[in-house]
Amino acid sequence: MSTDLASKLREGTKHSHTMAENTAFMKCFLKGIVEREPFRKLIANLYLVYSALEEQLQRYCTHPVVSLIYFPILNRKANLEKDLVFYYGENWREQISALEAGKVYVERINEVANTEPGLLVAHAYVRYMGDLSGGQSLKKIIRSALDLPANEGTGLHEFEQLPSVEAIRAFKGQYRDALNALPVDDALAEKIIAEANYAFALNRDVVHELEADVKAAIGDHVFDLITRQDLPGSTERSPGNNAIRLVAAE
Ligand code: HEM
Repeated sequence: MSTDLASKLREGTKHSHTMAENTAFMKCFLKGIVEREPFRKLIANLYLVYSALEEQLQRYCTHPVVSLIYFPILNRKANLEKDLVFYYGENWREQISALEAGKVYVERINEVANTEPGLLVAHAYVRYMGDLSGGQSLKKIIRSALDLPANEGTGLHEFEQLPSVEAIRAFKGQYRDALNALPVDDALAEKIIAEANYAFALNRDVVHELEADVKAAIGDHVFDLITRQDLPGSTERSPGNNAIRLVAAE
């Protein structure tokens, strides 16, 4: 059975994706402005998000829907722990805290896990496909902006078991095939798409909360210059036609 869920998700979230790319935080990123303090707070909050997500995916690893989209090679928690040691030091656990938006995001993951676990598909899709797509370009921007030592600081975007652009591209094909093979009816597919749009909003809320830190670091004037113009959305173009800005992300 093919539900074409992969295309439906891509189509059904493209506007949300464009909005995510057009957050002030991401616009600064794309201009090469990555400030260490808000960036490490983002990593800390994503650590909390992935800890919840991966715990719930593991809990439902024999669930008829969730099991088919559970790929442990994607797990980010251990890599994020290494990033946190790098950015905060060995006592990172005492230093990190959840943003308000981070708490809401974690609560939502736990809530859907407890009430309708099939919707975890949406949360996994938004984060993992994002890390495998635009995330691969962001990794290069982060490395260069923060002048990072080799193998440090971008564990979020390192997939040790997918060591090349080709391997990532092939895996994304496999992930889309898995989405298409999920035993979901139209009603559940619609709910998954709605939840994916909500997951995008939760991601936007996290970075919005960090914008004040970015502004404080670069100053109001530069912040306004960089963020006043909107960008065309990467997933609003046809698949395979991402060459305009992000060749490496494909
Ligand atoms: C400046 C920020 C971003 C850029 C430049 C970017 C870029 C891209 C690009 C080029 C693709 C298409 C890849 C392909 O077709 O294979 C893509 C896909 C995707 N991105 Fe982003 N992205 C950004 C932010 C985000 C954020 C914040 C999220 C969510 C947290 C996200 C989630 C996704 C997802 C889920 C896909 C897969 C779409 C699909 O093919 O189904 N992206 N992104």
